[in-house]
Amino acid sequence: MSSLLLFLLPFIIIIPTLTLDFHYHSNREIEQYLLQLNASNPSITYLYSIGQSVRGQQLWVLALGLSPHRHTIGIPEFKYVANMHGNEVLGRVLLLQLIDDLVRGYRNNETWSLQLLKSTRIHILPTMNPDGFDEADTDCQYTQGRYNYNGIDLNRNFPDAFAGPQRPQQFTEENREAEVRAVIGWLRTESFVLSANLHGGALVASYPYDNSNGGSELVAGASVAPDNDVFVHLAKMYSNNHATMSQGKSCLDNTLFQDGITNGYQWYPLIGGMQDYNYVWAQCLELTLEVSCCKFPPEGDLPALWKENRKALLAFIQQVHLGVKGRVFDGFAVPVHNAVVEVKGRMNMSPFRTNQHGEYYRLLLPGTYSFTVTYPGHEVLTETLNVPYGPDKYSAMTHDFLLRRLRTTGRTPVNPILSISDYALDLERGGAITRSRWTGLVVGLSLTAALWSLID
Ligand SMILES: *[C@@H]1O[C@H](CO)[C@@H](O)[C@H](O)[C@H]1NC(C)=O
Ligand SMILES: *[C@@H]1O[C@H](CO)[C@@H](O)[C@H](O)[C@H]1NC(C)=O
Ligand SMILES: [Zn+2]
Repeated sequence: MSSLLLFLLPFIIIIPTLTLDFHYHSNREIEQYLLQLNASNPSITYLYSIGQSVRGQQLWVLALGLSPHRHTIGIPEFKYVANMHGNEVLGRVLLLQLIDDLVRGYRNNETWSLQLLKSTRIHILPTMNPDGFDEADTDCQYTQGRYNYNGIDLNRNFPDAFAGPQRPQQFTEENREAEVRAVIGWLRTESFVLSANLHGGALVASYPYDNSNGGSELVAGASVAPDNDVFVHLAKMYSNNHATMSQGKSCLDNTLFQDGITNGYQWYPLIGGMQDYNYVWAQCLELTLEVSCCKFPPEGDLPALWKENRKALLAFIQQVHLGVKGRVFDGFAVPVHNAVVEVKGRMNMSPFRTNQHGEYYRLLLPGTYSFTVTYPGHEVLTETLNVPYGPDKYSAMTHDFLLRRLRTTGRTPVNPILSISDYALDLERGGAITRSRWTGLVVGLSLTAALWSLID
């Protein structure tokens, strides 16, 4: 009898990881599922927590990829986040199904899964607001459970680049909720390239900006980001691969979403949102995906809803391979951190910088672009690149930038941090925040960023 049990034991343990049924798993069940998956698939999964909710529940993230534990040079970091609003629950289900799908696909040696896991490191946070979920009502529209345990809307609690100067009280660490602090910390540990944040209550792919202060970004009622063309492409990638989203039908009101996409601000202005924070301060392009009219769909609808979203979820991940990637090397052929890599015509509020491995990732549509690379003590490097379409090949174009040290003519500059070339570049752009900005680059954080986001 006991030997029969011993024989059966491995099967009893394995079975739950092979099928993930369609129902609303509790936070505890999700935790169990992820722990089990992590234990049984060590070669492609890595489970970690980015912090705890107000009530002390772990915010678990499952990383998937062929090197799940750590970043690999040239492999972009992607993420999906769901259930930031505790009562918008379809995203939780979709992301668990996605995990299940990727792992099963890998085990069955299916090309689509192998290609994605080989080329990308995918991080999945199924619930950013487990406390809210515990309070959630199953109503389709109502807001019970939307907020975290302190009654705060997490999608209004991020530092906001536009609202910053006017609302300084918002930008202290004490006013930041535990779940938001966890995500901000997460963004500092990995250099994410592309992301989406899953919501419910509408059917549309929304893209930055969500906010505006009435500056030049405000165009015909939309708050237009420098990478707007890429954002529109990304949003359409989701809506066109979704079963019905691109039809643009609204759920309740009379809003019609052309192609099933919208500029966030144009839909409704929002202060302190997560997608603007990702884009402005973490150079990660993030979309807000509204995946169901009903915030808490009946369990019987879940298989069909998964089917409607599956292709779109996978196609969107593949878009992390748009554009160009590579490293920046200094005059001694050493990769450099915090080199500024800019694309002409794309004036990002906080310029994109290389990570600690000297890498940059720049999502761009196919075309010809002029890149400018700036690093203290080195000549400004400008190069023109022809960028092909990368997603089909599961890789962005690779291009490294090799910098040349500024020739020293016997006289050392008074302040080596502020080189002549830095000034030249700043003159080109109007140079409003010259000193603070370039000094800030050297310490890895611009003063404007510090002022607005008070990261530390
Ligand atoms: C995930 O699995 C690895 C390998 O079995 C183990 O060392 C690690 O502790 C697990 N992680 C968690 C969070 O349980
Ligand atoms: C997986 O698929 C590849 C390519 O189709 C094949 O060469 C390989 O032998 C397969 N491996 C397994 C374990 O089935
Ligand atoms: Zn929401």
